[in-house]
Amino acid sequence: MSIRRLSLALLLSLPGLHAQVAKPTLHEALMAARADRAGDPGVAGAFHRLADAYGTPLYVYDQGHILGQVAALKSAFAPRFSKLRILYALKANTNPAVIGLLRSQGLGAEVVSRGEIETALRVGYAGGDIMFTSSSKGPEEIRRAIQLGSVLNVDSLDELGLVQAEARRQKKQARISFRINPGVDPHTIHQINTGIAESKFGLHLQGGIAFKAYEKALTMPEIRIEGAHCHIGSQITETDGYLLTARKMLGLVKDLKDKLGIKLGFVDLGGGLGIPYQDGQAVMSPEDLAKALEPVWKEGVAAAGYEPTLWLEPGRFFVGGSGFLVIRVNTVKETPLKTFVNVDAGFNTLMRPAMYQAYHRVRVIGKTQDPVKVDIAGDVCETGDILAEGRLLPRAQSGDLLVILDAGAYGFSMASEYNARPLPAELMVNGDAVRVIRKRGRISELFRNTTTAPATRK
Ligand code: LLP
Repeated sequence: MSIRRLSLALLLSLPGLHAQVAKPTLHEALMAARADRAGDPGVAGAFHRLADAYGTPLYVYDQGHILGQVAALKSAFAPRFSKLRILYALKANTNPAVIGLLRSQGLGAEVVSRGEIETALRVGYAGGDIMFTSSSKGPEEIRRAIQLGSVLNVDSLDELGLVQAEARRQKKQARISFRINPGVDPHTIHQINTGIAESKFGLHLQGGIAFKAYEKALTMPEIRIEGAHCHIGSQITETDGYLLTARKMLGLVKDLKDKLGIKLGFVDLGGGLGIPYQDGQAVMSPEDLAKALEPVWKEGVAAAGYEPTLWLEPGRFFVGGSGFLVIRVNTVKETPLKTFVNVDAGFNTLMRPAMYQAYHRVRVIGKTQDPVKVDIAGDVCETGDILAEGRLLPRAQSGDLLVILDAGAYGFSMASEYNARPLPAELMVNGDAVRVIRKRGRISELFRNTTTAPATRK
């Protein structure tokens, strides 16, 4: 860090003095907004420059944050688990620049669709680096994954049959793992709970269903069994669910070896590591998880008599906190019951609040005075399009900028053109450098692949 940068960083960290910083770097401005100093004139200047140059709504990702998250996960797990492989779950943020950054850190790719397979390849992944998980794979997807030599994470006996048939057709062996439903509740939002018994995902441990799937696969020469996989949910903030899951998965590992002579190459405990969405929210750290998991893993491995590689495949943890959604206030409206700040983004831009009642912090740029309780209302014509409810924020007015924090995961990747609004732009910030990693959508794109011609009868 240069002396100038260092002094800027020091100034930013001193309460009362930070207002003197005339021109923080973009990275510093993003971090200051996160630290609730979005009112600072220097910080506001940086946001206004971005919004003026690139328009709103605008997704901005901080490269330093993403790299820091990768380093944190590696430094917690690598010293404790000698056989370790980390993948990135692309669905959290499918921008090729983001995926490329994670690939550059040595992470594998966990994908859910043909589109994500092709995105991974485009970014430079080899087929063999890809793990393909989906509870409902189409024939084309199965064909492509086998052709590429990716691992297919098989979700049902029915699918096993389809994979076998396709492998035979291609005269290849399909590499597979089974997605296991361990029947564990990690205590997260209902819609993102995936490993409980009533969930649609995976082969249940319960009733020996998963075991029988391995038994069946063993009889198929077209199938190469490589591992076992599970993913119990997303935005998990406590270690307990992982520990119980690891115990159950290693129990299966032991059973498979003892009863069927199968030795697995890997056990994938999924993603799901939560991030703090609220100021002061306590969330398990990678260090907490690695530390708690180590003895459970060692015990299970000792009982099984060999050690498979531990795979992890987070998405949100790497990218969630890196993302800042910059939006502009269209109007402010006081009603008898509430004050609405109407903005130029909605659940078409960030789906999480409407879909899961998810909480995202909102900062008002360049304002510190006159706090007022407001709802941040989206521009989609639906009652449920509220991005934040009942927040005490400095009074904003038409033209002001707001920033929504932690929008890097399941933000743009879940965005749509609903209400005929083009998709937002995405930027990557590195220090004070910025790159447009996705151009703003255009109105003309709303009509792509369409025609106004009628269906005429011959
Ligand atoms: N692996 C599998 C098989 C998954 O289904 C998922 C996420 C992940 C890994 C990555 O999970 P993460 O580490 O990001 O929690 N749209 C929701 C989250 C849905 C997660 C779907 N599966 C949200 O906005 O909270």
